[in-house]
Amino acid sequence: MTEQFIIALDGPAASGKGTLAKKLAKYYNLALLDTGALYRAVGLNVLKAGGDPENESDALKAVGQLPEINLSNPELRGESTGAAASKVAAIPSVRAKLVDYQRNFAHNPPSDKRGSILDGRDIGTVICPEAKYKIFITANVETRAKRRFLEEFGKNGNEDNYQLILSELKARDERDMNRSTSPLKPHENAYLLDTTNSDIEAVFEAACAYISNKE
Ligand code: DC
Repeated sequence: MTEQFIIALDGPAASGKGTLAKKLAKYYNLALLDTGALYRAVGLNVLKAGGDPENESDALKAVGQLPEINLSNPELRGESTGAAASKVAAIPSVRAKLVDYQRNFAHNPPSDKRGSILDGRDIGTVICPEAKYKIFITANVETRAKRRFLEEFGKNGNEDNYQLILSELKARDERDMNRSTSPLKPHENAYLLDTTNSDIEAVFEAACAYISNKE
């Protein structure tokens, strides 16, 4: 059997993972799963139900509603949903319930696709450690906050807006990196891509070079 074409792409909030994942999916004709959207959907549902994202039974109830959720809902994208996602994601029983769905997606792409790419926090370490291609993308937190700030406010933002984004990202990094189950960290064989000083085109080219060297 030929080896499956799977890319595991991990990195912190606002690192450019989503943009890189879309470009790689298009270029290599891969099925794409934004695994953060799963946790965001759970977090949003808890908030909508008036629950507490740190409460296990509230979060598990929301996991049960996942099949009814539209993962492209723009409401999923806000930072309050990101923070709720990061809280539900720290609960081991919530993570356990999402493992099979993600592995199944990785290993069973539609027949018109060459393979799959999943982006998240624990794809290389826990969900698909067998993936042939593992990339860990990062940038320092001030650079990530600045990118988010420009995306959200364009030229109209002020210093307070920037400081709020910076503190939200720091809180999310702290939670995602220091939780006991599946914390954000690179797999030992992952290709590390620091994007602090590079634009998306340079990052995309570096990722493609890594993949073609391993093909
Ligand atoms: O990638 P994102 O910002 O959309 O992810 C939202 C939150 O979901 C993130 O702060 C932590 C959690 N998450 C996770 O724990 N594991 C993943 N594979 C993906 C996301």
